[in-house]
Amino acid sequence: MKYEPACLEIFLTRLAFLLFGKSVYKTFADRLPLEGGEKVLDFGCGMGTVAYYVAKKIPHGQLTCLDISRRWLNACRKTLHSFRNIIYMHCEFPELENESFDAAYCHFVLHDIPERELERIIPALIKSIKPHGLFIFREPLNDTENISVIKRLTGQNNLILKNSRITDIPVMGNALESIYYKQ
Ligand SMILES: C[S@@+](CC[C@H](N)C(=O)[O-])C[C@H]1O[C@@H](n2cnc3c(N)ncnc32)[C@H](O)[C@@H]1O
Repeated sequence: MKYEPACLEIFLTRLAFLLFGKSVYKTFADRLPLEGGEKVLDFGCGMGTVAYYVAKKIPHGQLTCLDISRRWLNACRKTLHSFRNIIYMHCEFPELENESFDAAYCHFVLHDIPERELERIIPALIKSIKPHGLFIFREPLNDTENISVIKRLTGQNNLILKNSRITDIPVMGNALESIYYKQ
C-alpha cells in the first residue's frame, strides 16, 4: 500500500529518534548478530532509525535501505548522510537479486502490510538472502493476526527459527523479535 508521510509525521519521527533512538532502535540493531563485513537489507527503512545504528556495525560491509515511500527514503538519506556504505532503493515490490544479502531485517514494517502482499513480499525477501543468512524482524504484538501470517510464511519458506522473544519497547509497547536463519 503506497503511502507518503506528511512533513509533521517526519518531524515527529525525527524527534522520537533523537529522544528514544538508543532505547528503541539501537537495542534492536545491537541484537543483530553481525561481524562487520556483511551485506544487509533494511526493508521498510523509513527515516533510517535502525539503519543509523546498523550502518555503524558494518563498517566493511554494505547496507541497502529500501522503502516504498520517496519521502521516507529522502529523510533516510539525511539521517545517514555521514555514512558511505549505504545503497538507497525506492521500490514498490522488492525485485532483489537472489542470494545477495547476508541478512535482511524488518523493523515495524510487516504488521502494516496486507496478507496478500506479504504472500509475495516475504518469499521475495527470503530468496534475496544467502544460504545460512539471517532474516530478522521486530513487529508489534497487538496485531496477532498479522503476526500469525508472518510466522506461517517464514515457516513455509525455508527458514529455521534461531531465537525469539517478546520485548517491551519504550513508548511502543510489546513487540515480537525473531531471528531466523536460511537453510
Ligand atoms: C512504521 S514505518 C517503520 C520505519 C522504520 N523501519 C522504523 O522502525 O523506524 C514502516 C515503513 O515501511 C515502509 N513500507 C511499507 N510497506 C512497504 C513495502 N511494501 N515496501 C517497502 N517499504 C514499505 C513505509 O513506507 C515506512 O517507511
